[in-house]
Amino acid sequence: MTALLDIAGLTAGYGKKTVVRDVALTLRTGEIVVVLGHNGAGKTTLVRAIFGLIRASSGRVSFDGRDITGRGPSANIADGLALVPQGHGIFRTLNVRRNLELGGFSVTSRDVIAERMERVFALFPVLRERQAQIGGTLSGGQQQMLAIGMALMPAPRLLILDEPSIGLAPLLVERVMESIREINENYGTTILLVEQNPRLALKIAARAVVMNRGAKIYDGAPEVLADERKLLELF
Ligand SMILES: Nc1ncnc2c1ncn2[C@@H]1O[C@H](COP(=O)(O)OP(=O)(O)O)[C@@H](O)[C@H]1O
Ligand SMILES: [Mg+2]
Repeated sequence: MTALLDIAGLTAGYGKKTVVRDVALTLRTGEIVVVLGHNGAGKTTLVRAIFGLIRASSGRVSFDGRDITGRGPSANIADGLALVPQGHGIFRTLNVRRNLELGGFSVTSRDVIAERMERVFALFPVLRERQAQIGGTLSGGQQQMLAIGMALMPAPRLLILDEPSIGLAPLLVERVMESIREINENYGTTILLVEQNPRLALKIAARAVVMNRGAKIYDGAPEVLADERKLLELF
């Protein structure tokens, strides 16, 4: 299978501070890869650098065989990348429908917007019921569903989710993980899932990566990490 995302020697940080060091990572088309690691390990910084929210100080990011290093988020979205940022980032004062429309800002056809919104409603029926509700008044789980829905509006080929289960009750975490699996199965979307809580994420992932202090320290079968002792060794 071909690589959809291919990262080599990626180093990034903030100002003079280097946070992500020399990370290599390949995602094949259709794969779900989970990135695990302690708080502060550099997971968010890694996905920001991939998505073009911050500039890498060195290294290369390729998407679908083309070098996209240094390209900004809007060009990346137009080309099929999507990010659900940590802490979601919905428009809290706008209603569900408007949030989804804004998620599809790069889509020019109204028919396509309507069709994509249907897809989101099929995945998260509660959003259909609440389409007129103001985003900020939704429950935490519903806001996360809306954030994922917004990211799906341009029908991305690569969906990056940064800790979508944070702060959610266990049942909702399961629901969100199940939706991620459905997105992957129904639309063939390749998924890069950042998680701090490994248990459920490892169940849906084809491969797992562990980061520690900005470096990748494991890249392989998720089953190995499902072994509690191995996980403890790495963390
Ligand atoms: N905007 C920022 N400016 C400076 N340092 C930051 C910024 N965001 C994160 N950091 C630092 O980068 C390190 C990694 O953070 P982050 O990438 O958020 O890790 P993770 O997502 O794995 O919890 C931490 O030491 C954090 O303090
Ligand atoms: Mg983070």
